[in-house]
Amino acid sequence: MIRFSPAAGHKVFCSPTWRVPGAPFLSFFSRVVVVGLLFYSATFCVNSASADEAVPVSVKILVAYHSLSGNTERMAEAVVDGAKSVSGTVIVMKRVGQVTADDLFSSDAVIVGSPVYWSNMSGEVKTFFDNWQFKFGVFPDFKMKNKVGAAFATGGQISSGKEVTMLTILAAMLGNQMIVVSGGGAFGASATTEGDSPGIDNKELADARALGQRVAEVATLIRSVPSR
Ligand SMILES: Cc1cc2nc3c(=O)[nH]c(=O)nc-3n(C[C@H](O)[C@H](O)[C@H](O)COP(=O)(O)O)c2cc1C
Repeated sequence: MIRFSPAAGHKVFCSPTWRVPGAPFLSFFSRVVVVGLLFYSATFCVNSASADEAVPVSVKILVAYHSLSGNTERMAEAVVDGAKSVSGTVIVMKRVGQVTADDLFSSDAVIVGSPVYWSNMSGEVKTFFDNWQFKFGVFPDFKMKNKVGAAFATGGQISSGKEVTMLTILAAMLGNQMIVVSGGGAFGASATTEGDSPGIDNKELADARALGQRVAEVATLIRSVPSR
């Protein structure tokens, strides 16, 4: 058996083992031929591994959000821009109420955005997660398992629930055995939209783009690992 470990850490096994009957009695010429064949076989394995790694990976990302006055929607657009910066990504951006079973199950990653309502995700976003079961029947098969998940939020005040909102979104994803990632901020991307910080500024948009890009990169990485 010839074992080769390329730089990416993948192991490629080529079988079966080559046994040559009567090898000890082979002439010098025969031995050269056998050694040549073994060398060719090893090279073939190396080239196969390289070809596999070169195959481009395409990932599909769903960006689902709720927004009444447009702030969370602006963040969603920036998340999409960030995800688009990673080659091979296909992105679907939808309001939570319009997401279909196919949108959900055909995605490699789902990024959910919510305005802060009473220091938590809005009722529409909570209903969206509840519908994963009521409409789409994710349990008991854990149909969202191993998809990448992430969150973003907008809130009127500086300290009034943005992190709780993102964490409760991530908690719903963890409960579905998804692989949650952050980006932009510690728990995702967020923006303050009222009071001393009205609207969404460039730093907040950059955070949203960073989140989209990171999710696309992580999803691509996970998709590129051969399934067992
Ligand atoms: C019912 C309701 C409750 C809200 N509760 C909070 C809150 O607890 N904390 C906060 O920072 N902002 C709160 N806000 C403000 C919104 O989170 C903020 O304006 C948000 O950016 C709106 O997003 P949108 O423009 O995408 O609809 C609340 C707004 C509404 C309508």
